[in-house]
Amino acid sequence: MFAARKILSDIPRFTWRYMVARTFKVAIVGAGGGIGQPLSLLLRQSPGITELALHDLHGTKGLAADHSHICTRCQVSGYEGEGELETAVSKSDVVVVAAGMPRLPGMERDHLMAANGNVAIKVTNAISVACPHALVAFITNPINMIVPAAAEILKAAGTFSPERLFGITTLDVVRSKTFIAEHMQISPDTVNIPVIGGHAGKTILPLISQCQPHFKGNASDIEKLTCRIQEAGTEVVKAKAGKGSATLSMAFAGAKFVDSLLRALNGEEGLVECAYVASDLTDAPFFASPVELGKQGIKRYLDLPNLSESEKHALKKLLPVLQQNAIEGQLFARNSTAERIKKLSN
Ligand code: LMR
Repeated sequence: MFAARKILSDIPRFTWRYMVARTFKVAIVGAGGGIGQPLSLLLRQSPGITELALHDLHGTKGLAADHSHICTRCQVSGYEGEGELETAVSKSDVVVVAAGMPRLPGMERDHLMAANGNVAIKVTNAISVACPHALVAFITNPINMIVPAAAEILKAAGTFSPERLFGITTLDVVRSKTFIAEHMQISPDTVNIPVIGGHAGKTILPLISQCQPHFKGNASDIEKLTCRIQEAGTEVVKAKAGKGSATLSMAFAGAKFVDSLLRALNGEEGLVECAYVASDLTDAPFFASPVELGKQGIKRYLDLPNLSESEKHALKKLLPVLQQNAIEGQLFARNSTAERIKKLSN
């Protein structure tokens, strides 16, 4: 527990000013969308990236032309359509997947599986052929099901490494830092807090008892903040009134997470991020928790932090939900593979 606290407090701030020994190719799938576009702009400023491949069904050639006028050394190229997907991700060190539909008001993230599950599976198949050693980070919702589905596809292809597959849950940490800082009237930069579980409603569990600096507030403040963090995605969906979900904050969070992956690939030590990954920390096969990053992806799973009584209770309630989400994701992938094989044999 103490070690986890120490490392969390040592996380460097998100800044693009650092030295790199190596540079990398990063591919963004879904680069033309509301998250993909700002994500590409943030990532091209990273000293760790010299090649940025933008893939989407259409529009990325124009985005690449637009990018090409920016005076940083990163080379950006655009790839369009399913036919160019493998070329886009080929030889990537990191692939970030933001492709898919956003939520509309009244929808839960789970409702997106029918639309986004197949997208994630196509992308995972392409990754498994064209860059099987890449670190793969999903933004596409529902994260709680998409990551188990992707794992299933990679397992069937013989290219699954648990330490290289991530669901990005950084936005839950970013929101926790922001809302807690507002409450405590301090700078969000100074707040560190682990967020565990998953990335939907009550499966998002911010461990306010472990907040640094120590949280100042009563039980009712904790309950209100926890609820706001859990419903923050829906807050944006409602505010956008039918025009999608969080894009800018998600791009910021995605860029922060990819920055940590790249720093770790470059040999920087002690980088800890919370992410939704294959895990045996709890009874759920996929679980978001703090992991230390290294040159191969996950270097070490940190132990679960100490939990307050109410956090223990919330964890007990969310685990069956995550177990069920994982089963649904895995079944979706198996059915989709069976259908693909049937089509090929007809
Ligand atoms: C978020 O947390 O903002 C995203 O997962 C998008 C959504 O549907 O809420």
